[in-house]
Amino acid sequence: MVNPQPTAKDDGPRHVAIIMDGNGRWATQRGRPRLFGHQAGARRVREIVEACPDLGVDYLTVFAFSTENWKRTQSEVSGLMNLFRRYITREAKALKANDVCVRFIGDRVRLDQKLVAMMDELEALTAHCRTVNLTIAINYGGRDEVARATKRLARDVAEGRLNPDDVDEETLPKYLDTCVLPDPDLVIRTSGEARISNFLLWQSAYSEYEFIDTLWPDFTADEFRSVVGGFGTRERRFGAVVA
Ligand code: FPP
Repeated sequence: MVNPQPTAKDDGPRHVAIIMDGNGRWATQRGRPRLFGHQAGARRVREIVEACPDLGVDYLTVFAFSTENWKRTQSEVSGLMNLFRRYITREAKALKANDVCVRFIGDRVRLDQKLVAMMDELEALTAHCRTVNLTIAINYGGRDEVARATKRLARDVAEGRLNPDDVDEETLPKYLDTCVLPDPDLVIRTSGEARISNFLLWQSAYSEYEFIDTLWPDFTADEFRSVVGGFGTRERRFGAVVA
């Protein structure tokens, strides 16, 4: 499926992607272990998902664990993996009841098989849901995604299913983890860092960025509404000149 074009000027963002940063600092400020911040961060996700329908946000994509996050201590990594399992167990019913279709992006090969089975189950459970599309990026990196996509594309060329002369910028997105999603209109990063950190590199070529000082566990639905509300005032030209 070809990615739809981003929404036009003055529309609200249809797809919002969030780099949920600042959990560790939030916990440290309270004299607590980093995992305490991740737990608080996980609770925020529900509030933000529930704010989407009224804002006209059909797609929400959140960066939960990057391909670089394996470099953290063993205890933080295993704590995060446990947290993802608990999140799925705890939230599955509410996500389905709220008509939220959940997808996961990222490379599942390195993930614990029990977690992968739970991710598959949640995707199947919510596959028919339509109100919000929640995509959770786990073991995700934009470069890794492009490399994996290129490998699949190269295989299709080698096995005669794809003619190299037909490869254009519509081709690669079909091989990306996000192939069924529109490109994000707005990417929000919390915690005051102004970096992309390998998130949705291909897909965010024309996205607007908002870098917010608030640490993720403090990012409320009200602040989300205010950031999303500010989007309509921007003029997006996609490289063209608007008279
Ligand atoms: C970045 O903050 C955050 C992460 C690496 C983990 C994000 C995970 C969650 C918000 C919880 C789980 C989410 C779901 C959807 C189940 P950081 O640890 O880098 O913070 P710091 O920069 O202050 O150290």
